[in-house]
Amino acid sequence: MIKHLIAPSLLAADFGNLARDLVMINETEADWLHVDIMDGMFVPNISFGPEIVKIAKKYAEQPLDVHLMIEKPERYIDVYRNAGADHISVHIETCPHLHRVIQQIKDSGAKAGVAINPHTSVHQLEDIIEDIDIVLLMSVNPGFGGQKFIYNTINKIKSVKQMITTTNSRALIEVDGGVGLQNAEVILQAGADVLVAGNSVFSAENPKLAIYALKNLGIQGLYA
Ligand code: DX5
Ligand code: ZN
Repeated sequence: MIKHLIAPSLLAADFGNLARDLVMINETEADWLHVDIMDGMFVPNISFGPEIVKIAKKYAEQPLDVHLMIEKPERYIDVYRNAGADHISVHIETCPHLHRVIQQIKDSGAKAGVAINPHTSVHQLEDIIEDIDIVLLMSVNPGFGGQKFIYNTINKIKSVKQMITTTNSRALIEVDGGVGLQNAEVILQAGADVLVAGNSVFSAENPKLAIYALKNLGIQGLYA
């Protein structure tokens, strides 16, 4: 059985000590580095831009999993690809011509993902699921780290998993927002492949141990 993947979210790192935090992540079993780009329009918050992604690329040994929470993301695919993105996910809510944007991401050489907000029906993925590498299911309303996991996401994971099985899609299911040891097991049981973890890693007393515990669920006594 393939083990699930862990993607620590850069948004929760200490930006005054970014290189230190990225080197720390390299010393763990983290599989991807999740990178949140927010424009203050599609979401209320502004995070950072391509220059920080370049710094992440310089230090991180993991693939950069870039999550674009921006309007008209087609304007920035090449910018983030050139900054070092290995995966680029765009929100379905921002793309009236989603199929075209997915092709644009693939043509850039990155893996292509589609992110969907908590209120957006997974049925909207039906006609794109076979073309994508990642379904990024938002389990909070995007814009901020440290929010509470929305439980209905569990039903959505199950539905997407079924869709992937029936279509023979290769897409991985990535769950983003409010993920930690308290809910990781149920999220994975529902069919998720990748756990994004921001505050549950970077705000932990021991971030390395937090990643170890998320990666090795079920091994008792690792983490209180
Ligand atoms: C929220 C972002 C998330 C965020 C997750 O808009 O997309 O990736 O960093 O942070 P936590 O794990 O703290 O909810
Ligand atoms: Zn994200």
